[in-house]
Amino acid sequence: MDERSFFYNLGKLVYQLDGVYGAYGKNCNLGSPNLLWILYALNDGERHSQKLICAEWDIPRSTANTIIKDLESKHYITLSQIKGERRELLVSLTESGKKYADGILSDLYRREKEIYSEIEAPEEFIDTLQNLAAKMQRIAAKGDKIMNKKILVAYFSASGTTAKVARDLASAAGAELYEIKPAIPYTRADLDWTDKRSRSSLEMSDKSSRPALADRNAPVSGYDTILLGFPVWWYTAPTIVNSFLESYDFSGKKIVLFATSGGSGFGHTREDLSKSVGNDTTIIEGKIMNGAYSAAELESLIGKLLG
Ligand SMILES: Cc1cc2nc3c(=O)[nH]c(=O)nc-3n(C[C@H](O)[C@H](O)[C@H](O)COP(=O)(O)O)c2cc1C
Repeated sequence: MDERSFFYNLGKLVYQLDGVYGAYGKNCNLGSPNLLWILYALNDGERHSQKLICAEWDIPRSTANTIIKDLESKHYITLSQIKGERRELLVSLTESGKKYADGILSDLYRREKEIYSEIEAPEEFIDTLQNLAAKMQRIAAKGDKIMNKKILVAYFSASGTTAKVARDLASAAGAELYEIKPAIPYTRADLDWTDKRSRSSLEMSDKSSRPALADRNAPVSGYDTILLGFPVWWYTAPTIVNSFLESYDFSGKKIVLFATSGGSGFGHTREDLSKSVGNDTTIIEGKIMNGAYSAAELESLIGKLLG
């Protein structure tokens, strides 16, 4: 099973389970499915903070407030202050609240008991799910970090392949996109690598060639981290990428490279590009993005930039 079908099935099953509990709540005429979860959470004889109930059962604060106020007006719960926490309340069921909760939940508990006996290694099962949830939460927090960190995706693309990857990366990273454009666009003939006298062949055989840029508008100064993309030409980056690097101040910045190619790797790209920046610029080989790539691959490339 690959990761897509694993999470697809997991998501589906979580929703199915949630649906079973939702239907139960509906049959009990509870109105809000969240009421079932709040009673479920409170009915263990302990006192719970309202904040923790919301966090643990993923219930919006305002929804929980409404439900709790309603339960309090019916004298099913009591609210008490937590020392030092003026805005936090401890919630506990009253005698009649416990009766109310038991009345609603007893049939559910009976069904759960019936199924529980058939579950193999229930503690391990919960452990596995708990680990998974914790990992997902950590990654989600990292995702927020991605959204908060400003990333620039700068790319050169002669025939559109790298441009597509750059667009996908920018949208996955919530990044600004900048196209490195040559002052004189490359024609088909210019790109003919079988012709030793074509423009690209001449440029690439002269390490000092620096094709002119169409503009100097890349917003480099506003970013510390840059994803830099290009097609591999003759086992390195096209020299216009050197023109780009030499036209701005990249000191103290981190650059992660991505590229597309006809099959080869980065070759001597990193060495060649390092010559166009100072010692205090970090250039890292990211990934050759040929063919189909998954959202996870895009994220891992972005992760290299943030790591
Ligand atoms: C002048 C030239 C040289 C190339 N050299 C290589 C190479 O050394 N290795 C390779 O795998 N692909 C090579 N390619 C293929 C390109 O890297 C590949 O088609 C790339 O995806 C094109 O990206 P683009 O559409 O963004 O320009 C070369 C293409 C051109 C035009």
